[in-house]
Parts: sequence; structure tokens; C-alpha cells
Amino acid sequence: MKKGAIIILYFDYAATCPLDKEAAQLYVQTAATCFGNTSSLHDIGSQAKQLLETCREEFALMLGAHKEGVYFTSGGSEGNFLAIQALLSSTLKEGRHIITSIAEHDSVQHTLEKLKQEGYEVTALPFNQKGHIDLKELEHAIRKETVLVAIQHGNSEIGTIQPIKEISKLCRKNDLLLHSDCVQTFGKVNLQELTQAVDSLSISGHKFYGPKGVGMVYIDPRLHWQPFYPNTSHERGFRPGTVNVPAIAAMTLSAQKITAKLKEQHHQLMQLRQHFLEAIGEIDEQTIVYPADLPAIIGMRLKGLEGQLVMLECNRYGYAISTGSACHIGQQTPANAMAALGVTGKAAKEFIRISLGIDSTEETVRQLGKVLVSLVSSQPNKGS
Ligand SMILES: Cc1ncc(COP(=O)(O)O)c(C=O)c1O
Repeated sequence: MKKGAIIILYFDYAATCPLDKEAAQLYVQTAATCFGNTSSLHDIGSQAKQLLETCREEFALMLGAHKEGVYFTSGGSEGNFLAIQALLSSTLKEGRHIITSIAEHDSVQHTLEKLKQEGYEVTALPFNQKGHIDLKELEHAIRKETVLVAIQHGNSEIGTIQPIKEISKLCRKNDLLLHSDCVQTFGKVNLQELTQAVDSLSISGHKFYGPKGVGMVYIDPRLHWQPFYPNTSHERGFRPGTVNVPAIAAMTLSAQKITAKLKEQHHQLMQLRQHFLEAIGEIDEQTIVYPADLPAIIGMRLKGLEGQLVMLECNRYGYAISTGSACHIGQQTPANAMAALGVTGKAAKEFIRISLGIDSTEETVRQLGKVLVSLVSSQPNKGS
């Protein structure tokens, strides 16, 4: 590091996390010693295949599910795309209508845009003021030609958790398949019950201190889906390409480490969130903090201050925060969660996201809070 350079404190864990050190070591070790192609029939290939199957079993255990339903992917975006395609290919129901939420991650939204071009109709539901899907609205949106519901578990921008169990009941009653993007919740909440309630879910390694470019999809093994890519043999037809065993092994280790301390982590994050909220208490009237179920994600607005400016100012002071989903950065489009909450125009562009993780401490969250207080206080009209 250059002499005098500012140390940047990281508050963007919902965008990505640093790689766990043990997972990094395992990655290097596996890449060097277990490098075979899992499809090769010789012993070097079989060794890699064995490790891959052990990782599949470990994920099945963590999800309380069958290992036959576990498929490794290149991450959450690809997982969402392939899971949705797989569910649509498996449905026996006639119809081309899909229900989703306005706040889905772009990887879901873009998949559904593509499906619209192919003749599907898509209904996107807003959030209520608590940041949740209204179950009555969902029930209303169901038509006889509805085949699929794609609704996220945790929101990446404001940290709300959707009532997937109740959504699942509606889906089962109406013979609809259900996909849930669990990228923001795996490693933060126990997903065992949810796994039983959905037909597919997706997760991504780098959101829980695993490597980037690796993820997992679970699909109920009772479904008979068709491969999206023709003649694919890897991952039993789910995804082509040589399987990234070192990354999968490293992701499995980081997943095991984090799922072993879910309660402890939740408690710590709740406390850190509370310290941060206390630190910005004096600018209460100039801030809007959105309700969250995941304590690690603080979605908020400083009234009258553009999010981009706040983010850049924080960066100048040595704090890395975000203006929402990393996919929107540089596009000047507001966070999807703002649209889902009906917040538009200038107000939507005020959105910032602070997300907490392994290196966040009481001291650093309070310091960040002070920076926000000073930004608001230095405004001529104090943001009102
Ligand atoms: C809710 C959600 N879904 C999907 C993704 C995409 O995951 P990946 O970066 O692994 O493609 C993200 C990443 O920001 C996310 O937050």
C-alpha cells in the first residue's frame, strides 16, 4: 500500500465478499492436486468426480434435500436463468404466464424479458410498505394459464425476506412451479424448510465468502426438465463446460463454515445494525431507513442527497458503500427495490445500501454513521 493511502473500510458485502482464507487455500490445493476433468474415465478424473460428488452431498445436507437435485453453476445469474428454463421445460401445465416481483435481481428480470419476447406474459408485483409481496395481490394475479412464480427470498437492496412458505402454498394449490433466488439468504438464514417449499432455488458462492464465478441450483429431483443447452453431459445436462471442482470445493467449505454459525452471526449483525442506526440517530428526520429482515443489509436514503454523491463522498472518506445492486452501478437506473416500493424520480436516486459482514465492527459502523451525519449536516438546507 502507498504511504498515506486511505484504508477503505468495506460495507458492500451484499455485492460481494472477500474469499475466506481457508477456502482460498483449499482452492489452490485442489486446483493443484485434484485437477482432473470430472468426465474423464481415468483415475485422475475419478478423483475429481469423487470430490465433486462429496461437495454435492454436503450441499444436499446443508439444504436438507436430495443430492440428485444439486447442480453446480457459474453463479447466481446463470443459476437463475437455467433454473427458470428448467422449470418451464418441466411443466405439464398448458399456459404462458409467469408471476414475479418488481424487485427481482436483474438476472431474473432479464431472463423474464427474454421469455416475453418468446411469447410469455409476465406480471411483476410491487412490494407493500414493509417490503414484502402482498399475498392477496399474488392470489389475484394467478390465472388459469399461469405456470411459474419466480420470487426472490432475500432482497439484495433493502434486505427484506419474502414469505416463500405462504407463496409456496398458493403455488401448490394452483399447480404452479416456484423458483426462488436465494443468493442473498444462503449463509444468513437456514434454508432447509424453504428448500422443501420451492421447486428450485439458486445460490452464489461469493455472497458467503466463497469464490466468485461459482454457485449452485437446487431443483426438486421429481421434476423432469429438459437441458437448455442441447447435448450437454456435464452436471447431468444442467450446465455445459468442464466442472470447476476447485471453486466448488472452496465454496462448499465456506458454506459449511458459515452455516455452522448462522445464529451467532445473525445476533452480531443485529447488534451492528443497531449501533449504526444509533450513530445516525441525530439525522433521523433527514433519513429514511427501509424495513429489513436481514440485519446485514441497510437500504436507506438521505433526503435531498443523491445516492451516487453520498457513495462517492463515503469513498473519499474511506468507506465503500453502494447505491444498490452492483448490476445497476454506472447505469444511472434506480434500485429495483425502489421501483417495487413505488419510489421514483429524484427520491429513488437518493438510495444507498450499506451491507455488513465479517470485518464490520461497532467502531467502524459508528464511524460510517458519523460520516453520513456530517454529509447531511454540511448541506445548506440539511436535506429537508
Ligand atoms: C439476489 C441476487 N441474485 C443473483 C445475483 C447474481 O449472482 P452472481 O453474481 O453470482 O451472478 C445477485 C448478485 O448480486 C443477487 O444479489
